[in-house]
Amino acid sequence: MSDINYSEKIPNNVNLGEDRSLQRALEQWQPNFIHWWDNMGPEGSTNSEVYLRMAVSVDPQGWAQFGHVKMRDYRWGIFLNQEQEDRPIHFGDHKGEKAWQDIPGEYRANLRRIIVTQGDTEPASVEQQRHLGLTAPSMYDLRNLFQINVEEGRHLWAMVYLLHKHFGRDGREESEALLERRSGQEDNPRILQAFNEQTPDWLSFFMFTYFTDRDGKFQLCALAESSFDPLARTTKFMLTEEAHHMFVGESGISRVIQRTCQMMNELKTDDANHLRNAGVIDLPTIQRYLNFHFSVTIDLFGADESSNAATFYSTGLKGRFEERKRDDDHVLKRQTYRVLNVQNGQLVEKEVPMLNALNEVLRDDFIKDSVGGVARWNKVIEKAGIPYRLSVPHKAFHRSIGALSGVKVSPDGRVLSYTEWQARVNEWLPSDLDRAFVCSLMGRVVDAGKFANWIAPPAMGINRQPVDFEYVRFN
Ligand SMILES: [Fe+2]
Ligand SMILES: [Fe+2]
Repeated sequence: MSDINYSEKIPNNVNLGEDRSLQRALEQWQPNFIHWWDNMGPEGSTNSEVYLRMAVSVDPQGWAQFGHVKMRDYRWGIFLNQEQEDRPIHFGDHKGEKAWQDIPGEYRANLRRIIVTQGDTEPASVEQQRHLGLTAPSMYDLRNLFQINVEEGRHLWAMVYLLHKHFGRDGREESEALLERRSGQEDNPRILQAFNEQTPDWLSFFMFTYFTDRDGKFQLCALAESSFDPLARTTKFMLTEEAHHMFVGESGISRVIQRTCQMMNELKTDDANHLRNAGVIDLPTIQRYLNFHFSVTIDLFGADESSNAATFYSTGLKGRFEERKRDDDHVLKRQTYRVLNVQNGQLVEKEVPMLNALNEVLRDDFIKDSVGGVARWNKVIEKAGIPYRLSVPHKAFHRSIGALSGVKVSPDGRVLSYTEWQARVNEWLPSDLDRAFVCSLMGRVVDAGKFANWIAPPAMGINRQPVDFEYVRFN
């Protein structure tokens, strides 16, 4: 059951062949997906053969398969973790009942909304990243970009399968709409704002995969707890793919920092202009990009107080991060949580019912997790003997959603007047000049083993291949 059948038109481990009408519906959607990929997928990739990994089964060892594949021939398919017999629901009002293999009618609308919102982020990020291949800093990085792109495409497949299988005609219509919305397009944008922002350069790409793919991890972890078992099982498998995306972000930023520090020591300077003239990205600019991506990403968790979040939890649709590891009653009717609020222009903590604060709970878990990588980046700087340190900005910095969107706050958490904010914003967020500078560094370097000047080579290649391996064959 966990082995994936590649002999069918749509590779799957869900016995798709036994459900002819579902199979037919998905086979009708397939060419539309390919059409979308041809138009909105990575630019200039059509004829390249890329050293990609493909799942042969959903077991941890199932990732063993690597090989050169034309991107368009990547076998997108439907892979669910194995069903665990009689799994009980472990949180919310249905706690202790058997998990659902089909959707209870009364939860259909909410589940559809959850699945469509998740599904929409997947093609969105492919669209955001579609020009990056033209300015790849190395063949190794180009391969990683393409790996992420095909997997985000597969994540779309995962959500479309659920829509087709469990939502009838509505599901088929939603699946078409997922191929019609476009990142950043005014009249038909993607659902969530962070997925309408541009990813114009590789520093943004690495920050995006570190922070925004990590938002994906936390959303998927919460959905992996769902009482709707097919959703739980498909998101569990998606998480194994997501780990690589965050690795690309973390190691990418780490390599940028390493190269900058090397140049700082070589030139014995921390002067930004001096370093920019030497073709590397000064650390304060990296900090500003970090501030931007962190703040835009934590907005994705939604309003700090939300009755929808309470409903999704109580009805068992969406759990907390690592729900099973928590030692409370998993119903949360009597618990409270402290959220940050604004009162008379000051930040104050406010105690609210925990059920209404579950977006904030997930956001706080995300923040704890993302701080870890920043500490590892600081180790690189420390090792180079440089006194500078990176940090994540205060939770209230540069927010657009919830109570905190009403105040201007500095990265260290001071409430500011609008004039003060305006006077200093260019110290804290990338300015047009910063962005223009970073873009000016982007040029295509794709000879095997060669790297752009602003980034260090990785310590290791992919799948134990050497760093100068031919990860992409250009035809
Ligand atoms: Fe994804
Ligand atoms: Fe991802």
